[in-house]
Amino acid sequence: MTAAQRASAIHGTDEQHPNHPAHPAATRPDESAPAAASGLPTQFSRPTPAAQAREAKPCPGSGADAGVPVITIDGPTASGKGTIAQRVASALGWHVLDSGALYRLTALAVQRAGGDGSSEDQAAALARALDVCFKGGSIRMDGEDVTRLIRQECIGNLASRVAAWPAVRSALLARQRDFRRAPGLVADGRDMGTVVFPDATLKIFLDANVAVRAQRRHKQLKDKGISANLSDLLEDLRARDARDRDRALAPLVAAADAVTVDSSHAGIDDTVRQVLDLWSARGLARQG
Ligand code: C5P
Repeated sequence: MTAAQRASAIHGTDEQHPNHPAHPAATRPDESAPAAASGLPTQFSRPTPAAQAREAKPCPGSGADAGVPVITIDGPTASGKGTIAQRVASALGWHVLDSGALYRLTALAVQRAGGDGSSEDQAAALARALDVCFKGGSIRMDGEDVTRLIRQECIGNLASRVAAWPAVRSALLARQRDFRRAPGLVADGRDMGTVVFPDATLKIFLDANVAVRAQRRHKQLKDKGISANLSDLLEDLRARDARDRDRALAPLVAAADAVTVDSSHAGIDDTVRQVLDLWSARGLARQG
């Protein structure tokens, strides 16, 4: 397994993304890994089409509603959060926000501006000026379909670098909050419940055993005909988890009022049901 393949295994590739035209189902690269042969839940291999979730309109300043209910789903790589977010949004008929895409779009803008990711000011200015449109599972920037482009490994790497900068995070904050539209929003990422939507009605921290996540990714690679070393995958996942959890700003951490859901031994259907049950219980508690 080459370094590039290993990196791709951890961070996901074009074809693994729901917005990728060639992807047979709706999910995100890091969340969609099918179950491994060794008894992992097979339901994780076939998510629901993204088209079933409502399209959120991302244009800033166009009237996000603070009263609209939000369910946040944060969690580490390959925990299944993108898939679960899509499925929950579909079930409720709500909008969905893939916050990682905004960091990737910023990275693409930086790259196109000739930047190398060394200027926080430049990246923040580009993040503020992003002209993006999410429609029908495709993502357009300045009118161009960049759905595939932003899934490139180099863009993912640049995204994680620019995402560590306070000015970039703050430039994207209002844009993310603008996805909050009636009848509701399911937002997935790393800081949805802690920073972006601290008043969310329901906060989920979707976790999964790192060994299980590595096995899912391993199976995904095998299915693509790429041989992968499980212990390398495990090592890389651990390293990425540590980077996400240890960063100074908006680190990957469960919000104090989040419910932790462990998807290690549960399939997609069970996990979606769990989230929907939590949502129903919360709604009933509010009415009572
Ligand atoms: O989730 P995805 O891999 O598309 O995210 C790309 C990068 O954006 C991640 O590596 C992460 O560093 C950053 N990100 C973030 N906060 C979010 C979502 C993504 O810092 N809410």
